[in-house]
Amino acid sequence: MQTIKENIARQVVDFLVKKGVSADTVSKENLFKRPEREGFGDLALPCFPFARQLRMGPPQIAAELKTAIGTPPGVEKIEVVGGYLNFHLDKGEMFRALYRKYRESPDRMLAWNELAGQKVLVEFSSPNIAKPFSIGHLRSTVIGNFLQNLFRSLGAEVIAVNHIGDWGTQFGKLIVAFEKWGSREELAENPVKHLLALYVRFHREAETAPELEEAARLAFKRLEDGGERETELWQTFRELSLKEFNRTYGRLNVRFDKVLGEAFYRDKLQSVIDILKERGLLSVSENAVIVNLDEFDMPPCLIQKSDGASLYATRDIAAAVYRHDTFGFDKALYVVGAEQALHFRQFFKVLELAGFEWAADMEHIPFGLYRFQDGKMSTRKGKVIFLEEVLDEAVKRIRAVMEEKNPDIPDSEREKIAETLGTSAIIFHDLKNDRVKDIKFSWDEVLSMDGDSGPYIAYSYVRCRGILDKSRNLPPVNPEQVSISHPDEALLIQKLSQAHDTLLLCAKHRKSHFLAQYLLELTHAFHGFYHHCRVIGDDNGHSAFRLALVELTSATLKAGAGLMGMQLPERM
Ligand code: ARG
Repeated sequence: MQTIKENIARQVVDFLVKKGVSADTVSKENLFKRPEREGFGDLALPCFPFARQLRMGPPQIAAELKTAIGTPPGVEKIEVVGGYLNFHLDKGEMFRALYRKYRESPDRMLAWNELAGQKVLVEFSSPNIAKPFSIGHLRSTVIGNFLQNLFRSLGAEVIAVNHIGDWGTQFGKLIVAFEKWGSREELAENPVKHLLALYVRFHREAETAPELEEAARLAFKRLEDGGERETELWQTFRELSLKEFNRTYGRLNVRFDKVLGEAFYRDKLQSVIDILKERGLLSVSENAVIVNLDEFDMPPCLIQKSDGASLYATRDIAAAVYRHDTFGFDKALYVVGAEQALHFRQFFKVLELAGFEWAADMEHIPFGLYRFQDGKMSTRKGKVIFLEEVLDEAVKRIRAVMEEKNPDIPDSEREKIAETLGTSAIIFHDLKNDRVKDIKFSWDEVLSMDGDSGPYIAYSYVRCRGILDKSRNLPPVNPEQVSISHPDEALLIQKLSQAHDTLLLCAKHRKSHFLAQYLLELTHAFHGFYHHCRVIGDDNGHSAFRLALVELTSATLKAGAGLMGMQLPERM
């Protein structure tokens, strides 16, 4: 497919340039679009962009192009439709290209190398110690994990970083609260919940006892100055919370290359402050040290508080400098909720003003919120939703459906499958949405077996596995001798061939929903094919070829789901 496409692209560009289009306005990479409708072929070439330079109508350009390029190898038919030139590719060729890739390495059905040589740093998840791993952090975690997998599969070197919130004034509050009301036993048993309870209690009591705030400020100051008792407590809070977070990461198939909390940058702040000072960027306002950003229509970036305590933004600036010096990167992506957009604009600007050219390579990847409606999971005032509880609930609901539909599966296996399906359902429900939009959370949609859901993808995959299991002893297809006898075979081949462009689109926009949508379309194409084309026991000799299509579908679904962090069960 790639070679066929490149070959056509070369011919098209040659023709256009000869006609008078200036070479720097056409690129072989951006010529084609995916045809918008079925029946419009596999590649569409819009001719509109060249109309002005050539002083010709787009349909006329399309017609001349058609004559000029004849029928290149691998092309079945070329049609002019309006201002487009549509290419119908030879499905046998397309199949052979897919099958070759599959045979070379069945587990790397969705691996390419466009981004080889690039280094991409993806910062994501970044929960706060002693605050719950909320459903909001779920979004950062699954989106970031998808992006790291995506960039890896396109050949980039990726550094996945978790910027744990383990420093800041909240630790002063926690230390005070723990010393007043805390318990070591409860902390060991249920660290995050206990710390959250202490945090909430601190705020409640501080309403009537304002001196608590001052005590907290002093406690944090002692912590920043290395006080022994404070440091010991802080370390305990941190370790216990991380252990709990790691359990969640395990369930979501997420891994990091570096877990570096905000605290890690403590001893790297002064040199950053010195640089900002040297560049004449710092000023004092209301006793705090700031970088004034009036000129850029932004509020000032706070660098240091009046008592010398450091701030979130300062730690981010230091972290960026450290990462650039230590790892180097061509791109650094920050997967963080849209509500922090201003913070990122501010500190990116400060880096730029400080003269770090690479500030231009940093990108905030924002996302919207979850909106809850169904009773049990509602965000009642002050009630946070724990990610673990949502995952547990998904698993529980799936288990119940399975018990009813497939009572013969042994309990222990059912438990495993329910865990896989439940977490996959939550992941897919998140990633199928354009990340910048808010998500309405509905259990029906998360768990639906016949809708656009994770379980539906899993179901289609299990279907494929079932067919393949039943036909282990059949001889393999001879790719040179396939004959396409049904339009649904052609449609499935076409869909399978779109995976590559889909991943490139995801990478370009740093968005997952193109892939989610694609996987759903693939399952639909597969079900159409399966419904109309007899796979096992076809007596016209199509079995081997059709089985190969099932194999390709199964490998593509598995790899695609894998990029999203979903595991698919072999049966359900
Ligand atoms: N811990 C922060 C929070 O939960 C998110 C950190 C985002 N990353 C960053 N580099 N500031 O709000």
